[in-house]
Amino acid sequence: MTVSAVINVDIKGPRISRHVYGHFAEHLGRCVYGGFYVGEDSRVPNEGGIRLDVVEALRALDIPNLRWPGGCFADEYHWRDGVGPKAERPVMVNTHWGGVEENNHFGTHEFMALCELLGTEPYISGNVGSGTVREMSEWVEYLTREGDSPAVRERKANGREEPWKVKYWGLGNETWGCGGNMTAEHYANEARRYATYCRDFGDNKLYRIAAGAADFNYHWTETLMKQLSHLGCQRVERPLYQAISVHYYTIAGTWEDKGAATVFTEDEYYTTMLKAARTDELLTGHAGVMDLYDPTKEIGIVLDEWGTWWNVEPGTNPGFLYQQNTLRDALVASVHFDIFHRHADRLVMANIAQTVNVLQAMILTDPDTEALVLTPTYHVFQMNKGHQDASSLRVDVRGELPSREVGDGVLKTVSVSASRKDDRLLVSLSNLDAAIEQDVEIDLRGGNVTDVEARILTAAALQDHNTPEAPAAVAPRSFDGATVEGGKLRVRLPAHSFATVSATLS
Ligand code: AHR
Repeated sequence: MTVSAVINVDIKGPRISRHVYGHFAEHLGRCVYGGFYVGEDSRVPNEGGIRLDVVEALRALDIPNLRWPGGCFADEYHWRDGVGPKAERPVMVNTHWGGVEENNHFGTHEFMALCELLGTEPYISGNVGSGTVREMSEWVEYLTREGDSPAVRERKANGREEPWKVKYWGLGNETWGCGGNMTAEHYANEARRYATYCRDFGDNKLYRIAAGAADFNYHWTETLMKQLSHLGCQRVERPLYQAISVHYYTIAGTWEDKGAATVFTEDEYYTTMLKAARTDELLTGHAGVMDLYDPTKEIGIVLDEWGTWWNVEPGTNPGFLYQQNTLRDALVASVHFDIFHRHADRLVMANIAQTVNVLQAMILTDPDTEALVLTPTYHVFQMNKGHQDASSLRVDVRGELPSREVGDGVLKTVSVSASRKDDRLLVSLSNLDAAIEQDVEIDLRGGNVTDVEARILTAAALQDHNTPEAPAAVAPRSFDGATVEGGKLRVRLPAHSFATVSATLS
């Protein structure tokens, strides 16, 4: 059966925030140390200790923001431990992640330098769980205040004259769990209290993000929304927080046994894809609750942790969450992006967990050599980057998409999304069927389409992945299976593949 659809290229939907292509770096395993940061004395080429090959690879993705320092680590992080001369910075134990010692050599200044090298916006996750309001308030001041104050003098003494620009500010992380085991009601008050003292200095306007729900806990979102609607009556200048986060991981097995990253059956593959596709239900559910209190969509959703979570690679530290990344992970990413594009009206940011060496990474670095590997997921981010800040376009399907039963659920095996930026059209298509190719025919109405270019990411097996020995086992190539004739885009998608079609519109 051919999938038949219509896209009106002249009817623009909501803008796809570039921040849904956001990233996440936690002090966890080898994400920061060994991943982003090797120290100035390393033989790996670096600037101020920051790995330049990692920076170069990520610059090619135009990553819009980087969330740091956690995760669960954020709620044990005390920022003053990570500023000033490195030799004097205290050592702590990273109790959440492997019980290893953290020497605090990568701190605020190093993170901001990393963001500058990447050309990306910082998203700082503040400590609500074990920190104080004063500590968080002074961190904002240290980073963003101009002129003179004790925190400004402290920053200058540590070598930074000018304030930085910081917009995205997280009010804790998973405060229902590792961030303090709070109830929704208790946290809603804490969020207001912390937000009150995270001040805007000069023209630096914070975008405060309240720590949100796990998965489908709509009560959590509703509790945070109610607090804001109450404030509406005695509105301070604007809501105390501008967005509410949510975390959702794709786990095919159970938390105890999540399954292996590279060894899995076809059934496990389909279960994975069904779990990934549930992100649509997740965002619809949380957005539905928010609509009740905020019909004009002033408050955003920030999905600041998403991605696959497998058992760690054999022989690696269980607390380091190091996993390989196959074509299956790439398709999980492509399906997420289609869903993100469809929720552009409410979803303002999403951050894959995590960028380097942890969970569904873009980059894997070898601990013993200088080798760096780009994962299949990296390539999806790269192929899709044209959607950043583009106008979403609706894809109206005639009839039903092909589907298959997976356990108690039904998985649609074709996923498509599209956007337009100026005269550039970008269509992303995924065929999730493990074995069957799929024809797709899309009427492109409302414009002339020329200069069609297509790329494809696929491999012989779903389990295929990249290693230092075979770094391009799963890599994009140009694709001749897409044509446009008489305003019709015809694509023949191989089994288990992801393709992008870009074109000029007039
Ligand atoms: O990304 C790994 C961990 O998953 C984060 O630290 C935490 O927020 C989540 O539970």
